[in-house]
Amino acid sequence: MAKAGSFSDAFLDELRDAYDAEKQLIKALPKMAKAASSPKLRKAFEDHLKETRGHVGRLEQAFASLDEKVRGKHCDGIEGIIEEGGSVMDEDFDDATMDACLIAAGQRAEHYEMAAYGSLVAWAQTLGHGEAAGFLQANLDEEKAADEKLTALAEGGINQAAADAAGSDDGDEEEEGDEADDAGAAAKPKSSVAKTGAGSGRR
Ligand SMILES: [Fe+2]
Ligand SMILES: [Fe+2]
Repeated sequence: MAKAGSFSDAFLDELRDAYDAEKQLIKALPKMAKAASSPKLRKAFEDHLKETRGHVGRLEQAFASLDEKVRGKHCDGIEGIIEEGGSVMDEDFDDATMDACLIAAGQRAEHYEMAAYGSLVAWAQTLGHGEAAGFLQANLDEEKAADEKLTALAEGGINQAAADAAGSDDGDEEEEGDEADDAGAAAKPKSSVAKTGAGSGRR
């Protein structure tokens, strides 16, 4: 079997991908924090920025534990997620709706990272890289916690505030209801938000 195609190489590739993704997120998170209106949401992004710097540090430790040079490999997946989040920020939404959108965008990034670290932890364990697995698991735990925090903020008032803002904006609750009902199949940012927030944003 060719060495270039080994599982170890695939693992290293994924590690480099994760390293690049974290670096991209370090640039994106300050913009998300700045765009947030809710002080709690802004703080959540700022806190996760600090954690994200720690993720980069842990990945560097993981590389070191493998006697590998620290190297990133461009992560197209997170670039796309960040790009989507950026285009949401260009939309003309009320503050609460923008916050709900920022949470949705942030959660896409967290879930992407959770998927990546989930595989990386499992692969590291299979390959006998216990020390690296420990660093990767620590990152995974913080991604999960960040995701849960965003859910708590959305369900703890931001989605409802967005729904209330829509109500007062239109002055017509029925119209708002129609829009939410139609949201399922639509791909517009506003509709996808209605879909994301539907659980707690509509009652
Ligand atoms: Fe991260
Ligand atoms: Fe993260």
